[in-house]
Amino acid sequence: SRIAILISGRGSNMQAFIAACQRGELDADICLVASNRADASGLDIARAAGIDTACIEHGDYSDREAFDTALVACVQRYAPDLVILAGFMRILTPVFITPFTGRLLNIHPSLLPKYPGLHTHKRALEAGDREAGATVHFVTPALDGGPPILQARVPIVPRDTAETLATRVVALEHVIYPLAALWFLQGRLSLTEQGAYLDGQKI
Ligand code: GRF
Repeated sequence: SRIAILISGRGSNMQAFIAACQRGELDADICLVASNRADASGLDIARAAGIDTACIEHGDYSDREAFDTALVACVQRYAPDLVILAGFMRILTPVFITPFTGRLLNIHPSLLPKYPGLHTHKRALEAGDREAGATVHFVTPALDGGPPILQARVPIVPRDTAETLATRVVALEHVIYPLAALWFLQGRLSLTEQGAYLDGQKI
């Protein structure tokens, strides 16, 4: 199976995928790592791992649809079975989402449906929440709104800052994201009009 990964920054989730493939936990080839930012440090890590990289800079395009059109063309050239958004900080339009619907996943650093959007850990702390976490979900045109697949929960402790909480959460992101991808590549996970299904059971 072929996995394309889209990043915008350090790419720690991408690194977790590379490690899972190297450990034989994920029987897949990472065929492409693409970024909307040329300075994404994850690109260097992908190159060092011998993975093809591409950079489609959103500043080079007049609008979202033009950017998405270029990104679709780039990703489709690699014929991925699964497209992974990993720290990809662009809002995608149906131009990109539609061709990959059902095989396009994202990870969001909150216990969705709580805290879609940005600054999730800061918002959880300010709300006085006792726990936080991350959610792997199918991507649909609704921002961070696609059907959830798998969540990880962590406790919030009194001295937590957004940084200490993010560190605790991202460690579990690196566990649940490759696992959700494994389920998908095993054919156990699907997206229907009614939502996400695992082994025939609605999630
Ligand atoms: C992570 O918190 C992830 O949940 C969010 O972007 C952050 C950075 O991801 N999508 P990564 O380290 O670049 O994979």
